[in-house]
Amino acid sequence: MATRNEHKLRELGAVLAEHELVPLPREVELPPETGSTFAENALAKARAAARATGQPAIADDSGIEAVALDGRPGVQSARFAGQHATDAENLAKLIGAVPREADRRVTYVCAMVYAEPDAEEEPLFEAVCSGTLAVEPRGSGGFGYDPAFVPDDVPGERTMAELEPAEKDAISHRGRAARMLAGWLETAGAATTG
Ligand code: IMP
Repeated sequence: MATRNEHKLRELGAVLAEHELVPLPREVELPPETGSTFAENALAKARAAARATGQPAIADDSGIEAVALDGRPGVQSARFAGQHATDAENLAKLIGAVPREADRRVTYVCAMVYAEPDAEEEPLFEAVCSGTLAVEPRGSGGFGYDPAFVPDDVPGERTMAELEPAEKDAISHRGRAARMLAGWLETAGAATTG
């Protein structure tokens, strides 16, 4: 996994339970996230990790898009409140930036890339999860913007941070992209083993 984010590792590990996932070794540096799309950033991270380790690598680049902010913070989600901002600072900035009466629709986006060290092409899996931005954060699960993200696909107006981990995995952008990747790995594995 081309990440050291323990939340992403847990979420991916749950969906890709048949595969052994290893966090990126400390000495491997990932390229700066300078792409203008999630896909570009995921591709750069996956390639860098595969080449540095000589192992197949999976990278996830993800974020949140707010309709009222014309899609921001988008690829800047991890840095919305500044280069070294904490999750809490980013969350507070997003809640403050969307006026109460504005269109409160938000979308989580995940681009996931699987790279092998010498591959010429890397498959990309993209998925979204749509929801509404809560006015106040609620819940202690998940990470990042989860306390203010009320997904459309779950009854009861609960935020992502109020869901059980398995409930989040079933509907989240990352869970969906990881299941697409898992399906692809199954077919790719079947193709190489005959
Ligand atoms: P990345 O490491 O550049 O992919 O940063 C993704 C950022 O988007 C994270 O720091 C979070 O702020 C946000 N994000 C992505 N996925 C999620 C999620 O599942 N829940 C909450 N926030 C997320």
